[in-house]
Amino acid sequence: MQPMLNIAVRAARSAGDLILRSTDNIGHLQVDQKGKNDFASEVDRKSEREIINIIRAAYPDHAILAEESGAHKGNEFVWIIDPLDGTTNFLHGFPQYAVSIALKVKGRLEVGVIYDPLRDELFTARRGGGAMLNNRRIRVTRQSGMKGALIGTGFPFKTAAHLDAYVGMFKAITTDSAGIRRAGSAALDLAYVAAGRLDGFWEIGLMEWDMAAGVLLIKEAGGVVTDFSFNDKYIESGNLIAGNPKMHQIMYQLIEPHVTQSLR
Ligand code: IPD
Ligand code: CA
Ligand code: CA
Repeated sequence: MQPMLNIAVRAARSAGDLILRSTDNIGHLQVDQKGKNDFASEVDRKSEREIINIIRAAYPDHAILAEESGAHKGNEFVWIIDPLDGTTNFLHGFPQYAVSIALKVKGRLEVGVIYDPLRDELFTARRGGGAMLNNRRIRVTRQSGMKGALIGTGFPFKTAAHLDAYVGMFKAITTDSAGIRRAGSAALDLAYVAAGRLDGFWEIGLMEWDMAAGVLLIKEAGGVVTDFSFNDKYIESGNLIAGNPKMHQIMYQLIEPHVTQSLR
């Protein structure tokens, strides 16, 4: 899988450079609204084209699932691409966004890359090969309780449907933790859990491209990821809890009483 990781890195860096070059021009970008509070700019689309071109040049037979252009048919190798995670941040000049690329083979995540072009931070993982930040090994934290813990989250901003449930979860977690952060890029949030910068993370309503690379990073960094029923259906449900094994369990216990039937 190393050659495929290399291609993912090349694609993520190239897309990251393209995104950085566009920051001077933010006010003049063409921006489309895909749904409530859901935007895509021409930078999202250009970044995605760049990534797909690099992958397709190396592996013309592979399939692709990309946020802006959807599913491209191919064999059992599937590249999962978020060309710009944190578009709202990017469009406001708020410096927290990334490129996320993962490779799934026969349903199993094999490679994950998240690249933060602003800090030049490259998070990489290969199944069985550990997780790295700029080629240095990373691990989840050893935090073993909510006291002193820093937890990441994302607000359910696209629909009000789960707001009450979310507020219940938020209250339960904010009561004991050292703090909660909502930085606006789920991919980076997950990378930060893997790198030990956050002790845990939860969010409602993610898409596969938001989480695929981050999930592999966390697992390879010694962490645990589940849905809200303590199962592995987070891709299907979009709902995810992540952390080191202890923090994951504690978060699950705090979140579980607020989980409605439709969030399972
Ligand atoms: C979004 C970001 C955000 C998360 C949303 C995602 P996008 O991705 O990851 O942190 O809360 O659920 O949709 O739209 O910027 O690629
Ligand atoms: Ca995203
Ligand atoms: Ca995106």
